[in-house]
Amino acid sequence: MSADCRVYLIGFMGAGKSTVARLLTQKLDMPLVEMDERIVQEQGMSINEIFDVYGEERFREIESRLVSTLGQEPASIVSCGGGVVIRAENVTTMKKNGVIVFLSATPQTIYERVKNSKERPILNGNMNVEFIAGLMEKRRSLYEQAADIIIATDDKTKDEIADEIVTCLAQFQR
Ligand code: S3P
Repeated sequence: MSADCRVYLIGFMGAGKSTVARLLTQKLDMPLVEMDERIVQEQGMSINEIFDVYGEERFREIESRLVSTLGQEPASIVSCGGGVVIRAENVTTMKKNGVIVFLSATPQTIYERVKNSKERPILNGNMNVEFIAGLMEKRRSLYEQAADIIIATDDKTKDEIADEIVTCLAQFQR
């Protein structure tokens, strides 16, 4: 991996992107960018509020602008929002600027990880395995096509996942 190569973690809500990203920043000695946190800071509103007040499309615009900005900033580990792959332009920008790692998990695993959260507007009122499975199916090909590396996370510890990513990244010469 070259010094200017970002590592983008993508995957469904609850796939473990934020936790794994934190571990990777230590293992790879790179700064961390948590996209949703950056958006909350910049907008001065929670993700729920942005969806409530402005709607999903506006959130996707803010998200795309941030993907673009991150391409100009020093290389980092980027924990992406779960919907970042919806816009093809985001995937193009990420591919140009780094390596994309898809953390996959089964709908049941995702449900267990997110069921007590109220901070994901897309799941508020839809907190069940069937909804998660349906949305995941719609997005699966987007995640898979975007990915340079795919890691199945079910039944693995965060440390095992992070170590697997570090091993895969070592093969990337960009
Ligand atoms: C979303 C995922 C969320 C957040 C927003 C929309 C999605 O991020 O960006 O609620 O559409 O999958 P996490 O994947 O970090 O929960």
